[in-house]
Amino acid sequence: MITRNANGATSTAGSGNGAREIAIAVEHLTVSYGPTPALLDVNLQIPAGLLVGVIGPNGSGKSTLIKAILGFVRADFGEVKLFGEPAEKAKGRVAYVPQRGSVDWDFPITVQEVALMGRYGQRRWWQDRTHADYAAADAALEMVRMSEFRHRQIGQLSGGQQQRVFMARAMAQGADILLLDEPFAGVDAATERAILDVLERTRAAGKTLVVVHHDLATAAEYFDRIVLLKQRLFAFGPPERVLKPELLAEVYEGKLRAFMDLAE
Ligand SMILES: Nc1ncnc2c1ncn2[C@@H]1O[C@H](COP(=O)(O)OP(=O)(O)O)[C@@H](O)[C@H]1O
Ligand SMILES: [Mg+2]
Repeated sequence: MITRNANGATSTAGSGNGAREIAIAVEHLTVSYGPTPALLDVNLQIPAGLLVGVIGPNGSGKSTLIKAILGFVRADFGEVKLFGEPAEKAKGRVAYVPQRGSVDWDFPITVQEVALMGRYGQRRWWQDRTHADYAAADAALEMVRMSEFRHRQIGQLSGGQQQRVFMARAMAQGADILLLDEPFAGVDAATERAILDVLERTRAAGKTLVVVHHDLATAAEYFDRIVLLKQRLFAFGPPERVLKPELLAEVYEGKLRAFMDLAE
């Protein structure tokens, strides 16, 4: 069932996900940096265990939504709950995976050490790492298929490989929610496949993933649910319900011609 609420956003209900726990609940979220809000009264309930794409034109508030879920920006109004708790209480359960190439790896640190960084939250800094820490880091590197690079310096890896190591760090941390901002930006087709494979494996491990994505042409194939955003939430639901020409035309205005041509 599709309903249209007072804000004009469509949402779906009763389509087979009724039993899933709500991993992320965004309630009346308004965030502004200046006079115009970047996000305005966004309401969203993301069920656990799904791979969710966030789409919308440049400047539509996609990164701001990710930052608000992480608690990196302050809400003017509204709140974010993670697994039913105020976000501040569930901080350890959410991890941000930085964009590839966004970190300068001039100093030498190995892939294994980056994965182990995910374990710092589990102990005091002066305590030695335990066998359990190494086991968790190794299992996480296995999950992202980076075990064989364990002793490699991270600066020597490609951007796509670095991103997989950051995914491993989040997994070693024990995060249940992973947030990624445009992980596919500027990667070649093989790297895109490899990253998607890791996202799908992470979902298969029961995690909830929220991924900012800029490519409408692949969105339906990649994601279980899509958030369509432009300051307000325009739609949230399965791809076939969200990627509708009339909705996309409203959100992307004149910028849609290329995609419509593609769809024909
Ligand atoms: N740190 C900031 N200071 C001021 N304005 C910002 C800041 N970050 C984002 N904005 C503005 O907020 C709006 C949403 O930005 P953003 O969330 O980055 O959009 P997107 O990720 O969809 O491109 C834009 O108008 C942007 O210019
Ligand atoms: Mg952005």
